[in-house]
Amino acid sequence: MMATERKIMKVLNGETVTPPPIWIMRQAGRYLPEYRATRATAKGFLDLCYTPDLAVEVTLQPIRRYGFDASILFSDILVLPDALKRGVRFVEGEGPRLDPITLEEISLLDPSGMHEHLAPVYETVRRLRGELPEETTLLGFCGAPWTVATYMIAGRGTPDQAPARLFGYRERAAMEKLLDLLADMSADYLLRQLEAGADALQVFDSWAGVLDEETFEAFCVKPVARIVEKVRAVRPDAKIIGFPRAAGALYRGYREKTQIDALGLDWTVPLSFAVELQKEGPVQGNLDPLRVVAGKETIRDGVDRILDALGNGPLIFNLGHGITPDADPENVGYMVDRVRGKA
Ligand code: CP3
Repeated sequence: MMATERKIMKVLNGETVTPPPIWIMRQAGRYLPEYRATRATAKGFLDLCYTPDLAVEVTLQPIRRYGFDASILFSDILVLPDALKRGVRFVEGEGPRLDPITLEEISLLDPSGMHEHLAPVYETVRRLRGELPEETTLLGFCGAPWTVATYMIAGRGTPDQAPARLFGYRERAAMEKLLDLLADMSADYLLRQLEAGADALQVFDSWAGVLDEETFEAFCVKPVARIVEKVRAVRPDAKIIGFPRAAGALYRGYREKTQIDALGLDWTVPLSFAVELQKEGPVQGNLDPLRVVAGKETIRDGVDRILDALGNGPLIFNLGHGITPDADPENVGYMVDRVRGKA
């Protein structure tokens, strides 16, 4: 099968597919008992990411269960700072921890060994393309430079990423240097994923929503535009989904300025606004993940509203952010059936 015949690739080319194809962010994750079982056999979360046998297995688990239209490589956005030796570790029940970077350390960052470090990730992509059903789109991904930088600066996730925002105001030149370095590494990383067999890519800017208008342009739009330009310089046909989570009114213009193909929408984007954004090209989203936790009626209502508003244009159905560990796998099945007109 040609990659262009896969449903998600059609939508990324601007076609309307009915019913819309579906995948969900964090589809391989702790809400699935089979994920928890595989996770228990790995030494730690990063070992899971860097062991192709295990990473392939957990990537395939949600595809076996639900037949999603896309499979997303199992890895993490923090493998890039890990390749930069920033002391990335995942503390059980607390989330990621890194060594907070200092101004001086930014000039010393050395990406030269990144592809050796990330070789197991490329191997996972290669094996996945061989094992996935023909009709399933394989998505590669990276974190957007701003989001990755927020973790590198604070050394952890914080509610409003104040340490990185403050650093951006006080040390603008160093921040831009860090973002440029991460953008260049990300472009190389994504190109390797495409080479290894990824069909399309998603750039996760999970912390896009905490910036003011001026820093959003400088820290979110500009670095993502740089990634897209560098990837397309080598692969002019590369399809890229951009997800500037919680960008609110700043979603307007993001597609054009960054040249991404599809716009990922979080659940707070009003559907009337989403319709406007869809006039400019494909959109992805945007069911509140907590609707999946709440139960079937809540899911049905949310799914139907999205399909009514966006189903007649290019849409990739997804949640508005990652599924939470407390979601019932049966509810996920119901959501998929409802989107596909089978429930
Ligand atoms: O979506 C998928 O199924 C693919 C795998 C994937 C993971 N992380 C696996 C993961 C992807 C695409 C990511 C992206 C990611 N990682 C983002 C951007 C998207 C988003 O959620 O905002 C961010 C900000 C990270 C950084 C990160 N990784 C955090 C903040 C955490 C802890 C929070 C949590 O949910 O525990 C992680 C850990 C992580 N990444 C887990 C998984 C399945 C859970 C850890 C575990 O299993 O022990």
